[in-house]
Amino acid sequence: MSIRPILIHPDPRLKKRCAPVESISPEIGQLAEDMLETMYEAPGVGLAAPQVGVLQRLFVMDCVKEEDASPRPLVLINPEIVSTSDEVNTYEEGCLSIPEQYAEVTRPARVVMRWTGLDGKVQEEEFDGLWATCAQHELDHLNGKLFIDYLGALKRGMITRKMAKLKREQGRG
Ligand code: NI
Repeated sequence: MSIRPILIHPDPRLKKRCAPVESISPEIGQLAEDMLETMYEAPGVGLAAPQVGVLQRLFVMDCVKEEDASPRPLVLINPEIVSTSDEVNTYEEGCLSIPEQYAEVTRPARVVMRWTGLDGKVQEEEFDGLWATCAQHELDHLNGKLFIDYLGALKRGMITRKMAKLKREQGRG
């Protein structure tokens, strides 16, 4: 396993619609393991493949928060939304590709998602709370959408300029 570098916004690869995973190859297995390790190390609760520069429809998440609870690493391949609740929830969201910037985003409070697991089996589950927000945030990444795209142009522009400056300072821009 290895930690992969996380792309920082603005980056054209974070704005692309990702392609479906055609087969669950050993490379995909390795990618999923690396993404989980990268997410836990960050630390974060979710990470999508485009954030490590792989433009395929796959993300990982683990929203278990309690320190003494056992982790629940999930790998979602080709995820899709089956249904969403009318009830909404507002969370202060952040993103590993937009470090140290947070903003409130309103999304459906519950979401039923269907995806293929690493074992090739199709799974379906209803998520709520932080899990629902995270799953929708990560699925957005696969469509080239970031949480700041839900904000007004002024705030989004401010965050984007801050990130561009951060990247210049780090010599990555
Ligand atoms: Ni994100």
